Amino acid sequence: MVGAAESKKIVKILVTGAAGQLGTDLVLAVQKSGHEVVATSHADLDITNKSQVDLVIGQANAQAIIHAAAWTAVDACESDPQKAMRVNRDGTANVVAAARKSGARVIYISTDYVFDGTKPTPYLESDLPNPKSVYGASKLAGERELDLTQDAVVRVSWVCGAHGANMVKTILRLASTSPTLTFVDDQIGSPTFTSDVAPVIVDFAVNQRIGIWHVTNQGFTSWFGFAQDVLIAAGLDPSRVLSTSTADLRPQRPAERPANSVLENSKMREGNLTLLDDYHTPLQRLVDQLLS
Ligand SMILES: NC(=O)c1ccc[n+]([C@@H]2O[C@H](COP(=O)([O-])OP(=O)(O)OC[C@H]3O[C@@H](n4cnc5c(N)ncnc54)[C@H](OP(=O)(O)O)[C@@H]3O)[C@@H](O)[C@H]2O)c1
Repeated sequence: MVGAAESKKIVKILVTGAAGQLGTDLVLAVQKSGHEVVATSHADLDITNKSQVDLVIGQANAQAIIHAAAWTAVDACESDPQKAMRVNRDGTANVVAAARKSGARVIYISTDYVFDGTKPTPYLESDLPNPKSVYGASKLAGERELDLTQDAVVRVSWVCGAHGANMVKTILRLASTSPTLTFVDDQIGSPTFTSDVAPVIVDFAVNQRIGIWHVTNQGFTSWFGFAQDVLIAAGLDPSRVLSTSTADLRPQRPAERPANSVLENSKMREGNLTLLDDYHTPLQRLVDQLLS
């Protein structure tokens, strides 16, 4: 008799952007799942270099590609739209074309910033995107390079993890250097932790899920509320966080952010998939890890 472990089909998964915040935990999640990973960082694979993409993806001969590489500097994208499109749209086109040649499906990591934020309720996968920033437009253009009859788009939001820069680290740093911290209370979203979302993305790669999916931790808050949550998780006084509005921010930030970018995980609900925890749970874990 063949045991469950022996009969498990090992899937080979190539990860782009593997040294990034999410990419690092994606690689760990593939390893933990028992599948095989080919980790490619920016240094190993520049997605804007078509011949390199063809070579590396061709040689890897993976069944699935989790495409997490992107130019993610939201404000910098405003002043260089051509680079944003070159990396986030054309780089994705290169990855998809190479995947087609090698027979791999692609799971493209996208963003809440494809929406304009004017909807009063959480965004469904079927809602019409209308990005307000160059970054959002370039990520949406990337989405459109996928073939959703065989590929998947996974939109995540407000990503935080142990590796790389993110708002949890920024808030802890500010809290250690300033008596007060000021954050906007008119932009809301769902903080999403790489430790929680990475295993779900790997599961999507293994189980050949296709189409557009919203995958976030549950619960939502403003940046003001989130900064308070981080201070509470760190055992600090949350009244040190002051609120402001986007209109009153000085200096104004180059890129417009959606006021509401909460993503309803409706396809996961409909498919009876286990939703990610409320964001407070992984937040506490990450703060404990960062402060230990
Ligand atoms: N961070 C968020 O809040 C957020 C929210 C929604 C969606 N997302 C999406 O989630 C994914 C992962 O984001 P993240 O937070 O992990 O960002 P990240 O830490 O900036 O990771 C992105 C990685 O892509 C690499 N990269 C940039 N240009 C590249 C190129 N031409 N070729 C190959 N690699 C390249 C970067 O390398 P270098 O740093 O060396 O250039 C970096 O390691 C992205 O697709 C992003 O759009 C992020």
